[in-house]
Amino acid sequence: MTDLILALDVLTREEAIEIAEKTAPCLDSIKIGYPLVLGAGLSIAGELAEFGLPLIADFKVADIPNTNRLIAEHVFEAGFSAIITQGFTGSDSVTSCVEAAHDAGGECYVVAEMSHPGALEFLSGENAEKIAGMAVKCNADGIIAPATRPDRVRKLREIIGSKKILSPGIGAQGGSAKDIANMIDGMIVGRSIYQAEDPAKAAREYSEFRR
Ligand code: XMP
Repeated sequence: MTDLILALDVLTREEAIEIAEKTAPCLDSIKIGYPLVLGAGLSIAGELAEFGLPLIADFKVADIPNTNRLIAEHVFEAGFSAIITQGFTGSDSVTSCVEAAHDAGGECYVVAEMSHPGALEFLSGENAEKIAGMAVKCNADGIIAPATRPDRVRKLREIIGSKKILSPGIGAQGGSAKDIANMIDGMIVGRSIYQAEDPAKAAREYSEFRR
C-alpha cells in the first residue's frame, strides 16, 4: 500500500483548513511542520485531526534524548499520530522519540537521507545507510528517504526490509510519483498540491499513483 501524504506547509489556519477540506477525500494522511505550526499555533493539529486522517508531525527532532522525549510527548498530546526525527543525533536520541511515540500509540519515522541537493554534502551515502540500519535497531516504524533519488531509495530498502519508507521530493523538487510509488509506503507531496490552481484535482491525480 502506498499512501498519499499531503505536506501542508501553508502559513495560516484559514489556508490550512481550506486546502484540507478540498483534498482530504484523496489523502491518507497530512504532514505539518514548522511553517504551519509557527503560523497557526499547535492547536491547528487538533483542528486538522477532525478531518479523520492521521497527522504526521514533521519537526525533524534533533536534540538530546530528554529533550526529544519532551518534544515527542507534546506532539502526541496535541493529536498527532506520528513524528519525524532526525537520525544523525544517534541511537539514544532516536530511541527516546521511538519510545515516546509507541507509549502514545503512535509511530516514529527517522530521516535517513534528505531530498534536496545539499543533503549530498554531509548526510548521504554511507552515513544515510548507517542511519537506516540504526532506525531498524531502534525499532522505528520507518525512515524518510528521497523521492528525488530512486536509486538511493532502492539501496535503503535493502537495509530496512519491510519497515516503511515515506518519501518527500515528488513534484516541486523534481521527483516522479510514477517512478517511485511502487518502491515506497508513502508519497509526501506539498507544493504540487497546495499551490496548484485546483488542489482537489492535483490531489486526485497524485492519488492515482497509490498502490
Ligand atoms: P514539497 O513542497 O517539496 O514538500 O513537495 C516536501 C515536504 O517534505 C519535507 N521534506 C522533507 N522531510 N526529509 C524530511 O523529513 C526530507 O528529506 C525532506 N525533504 C522535504 C519538506 O519540509 C516539505 O514539508
